[in-house]
Amino acid sequence: MKERLIDHPHGVLAIVDDVTEPHALHPEELARARDFTEHRRASFVAGRSALAVALAHLGLRDRPAIGTDDRGAPLLPSGFVGSVSHKSARAVALAALDAGFDLGVDVELVRVPREGVAEMILTESELARIDDPLQILAAFSLKEAVYKAIAPGLRRYVAFREAEITLPALSESFTHAEVTLTLARGEPAPRIEATVALFGDTIITTARATRR
Ligand SMILES: CC(C)(COP(=O)(O)OP(=O)(O)OC[C@H]1O[C@@H](n2cnc3c(N)ncnc32)[C@H](O)[C@@H]1OP(=O)(O)O)[C@@H](O)C(=O)NCCC(=O)NCCS
Repeated sequence: MKERLIDHPHGVLAIVDDVTEPHALHPEELARARDFTEHRRASFVAGRSALAVALAHLGLRDRPAIGTDDRGAPLLPSGFVGSVSHKSARAVALAALDAGFDLGVDVELVRVPREGVAEMILTESELARIDDPLQILAAFSLKEAVYKAIAPGLRRYVAFREAEITLPALSESFTHAEVTLTLARGEPAPRIEATVALFGDTIITTARATRR
């Protein structure tokens, strides 16, 4: 397994690649992984391995199992927050000490976005200013990161058009992106801080949301 750690403004970001063996997984996580199909097992193991790396960097080595809530979000040990994203044997995890924020992270491999994806995920005003395929992919990724940061607090599906974003030019450093939420059910919107980076063939986006 290859790992890379980045000190990110939202916490510790761990990027792991070539996860052929589970790394520092809890026995309960290993037992859970055994029940999955091969593809799901690979992504689950990569994701939990990335979380383990990030949490160890925050000083948490002897840790309880990271479970999953009833809507799919990872359940971090008390006192910590975190999020995970995976693309087969590559995974990215973002974790931090709980300071009243929830986190979201997303990873996407650079590819031509599927036909019609822009119309599906972008608002009218975003469609008018975002037409570059890379930016469309970054917008998709950032909205997924935002979803992961806010969905556990809102406890509902949040549609892509409930978030409006303005992206920076993509580069190898995490750069601030603007996110405005207009929640369909009129809930008070959490405040979001977001970043985007492009590492070779990989887009990574992060979101940090004030907890409700
Ligand atoms: C949940 C979702 C964001 C996951 O993204 P994905 O590209 O399918 O998969 P990723 O590998 O990036 O992320 C998977 C991880 O997301 C996390 N996740 C799943 N559901 C979640 C939820 N409700 N809240 C927070 N995190 C969640 C899990 O940790 C999961 O990995 P694990 O099961 O191994 O623990 C996506 O499937 C989805 O439902 N998107 C539609 C909603 C949306 O993004 N709206 C934008 C509104 S701003």
